[in-house]
Amino acid sequence: MIRRDELYAGKAKSVFSTDDPDLLVLHFRNDTSAFDGEKVEQLDRKGMVNNKFNGFIMQKLSEAGIPTHFEKLIADESALVKKLEMFPIECVVRNVATGSIVRRLGVQDGMELNPPTFEFFLKNDALHDPMINDYHIITFGWASAEEIAEMKALTFKVNEVLKQMFDAAGLILVDYKLEFGKFHGQIHLGDEFSPDGCRLWDKETRQKLDKDRFRQGLGGVVEAYEEVAHRLGVDLS
Ligand code: ADP
Ligand code: CDP
Repeated sequence: MIRRDELYAGKAKSVFSTDDPDLLVLHFRNDTSAFDGEKVEQLDRKGMVNNKFNGFIMQKLSEAGIPTHFEKLIADESALVKKLEMFPIECVVRNVATGSIVRRLGVQDGMELNPPTFEFFLKNDALHDPMINDYHIITFGWASAEEIAEMKALTFKVNEVLKQMFDAAGLILVDYKLEFGKFHGQIHLGDEFSPDGCRLWDKETRQKLDKDRFRQGLGGVVEAYEEVAHRLGVDLS
């Protein structure tokens, strides 16, 4: 597959066209950003780790019946994916309260959420990704009621698959963000699932093994991602 023009350079990944109009190359860079791009650093190996981590998770989700954009890894830092028409929204599920929900609602940090809760955010850095509801999405035409229902169902299905998988690796899946898009009319999971877009705590020690290490300046960011990958059995060679 020939990588052609750079279509978009995001905060952490670059998107390239290919000689097949239905396929893209996602290139995972070492850039690591937080606070809507205000804090940015280069972290050695992060692109490679996230690319392989994401490939592993996408394959597991696909085996569980979740349609994903992932086709295959094509290099240490790149994957071939289906070209989706992305919804400009982020779907967040939380199994434990931390981060923005604690700041917004004043609930106890670390509180277990049973049932897990779901939130939509608008993907817009200039507006700091504001929280939105189903009515905003329908009124402004970001997705239909049917598409909203499907994204919610898929996001919770991902929770069932991944909560168990991380639990078996001694980790708590605290929360995560997913992005969806459409491929020839069918909703698929797009973007990435990696420790950049979720929170993972060690079950015993509650040590943070995700991007909060970067947000909070705790150090050992990529080492933590590698630890998670190792526990799951992701091949980083
Ligand atoms: P951001 O845009 O938030 O800075 P990234 O640096 O991760 O994020 O850039 C990757 C971009 O590619 C995101 O905007 C994401 O929505 C988009 N994207 C991810 N997967 C696909 C796909 N399969 N088809 C089209 N666009 C995609
Ligand atoms: O990170 P912050 O506390 O600002 O936001 P959050 O709403 O608590 O984030 C919930 C989950 O979604 C976390 O796992 C974040 O890493 C993830 N997220 C993301 O990957 N990208 C965003 N733009 C927003 C949240």
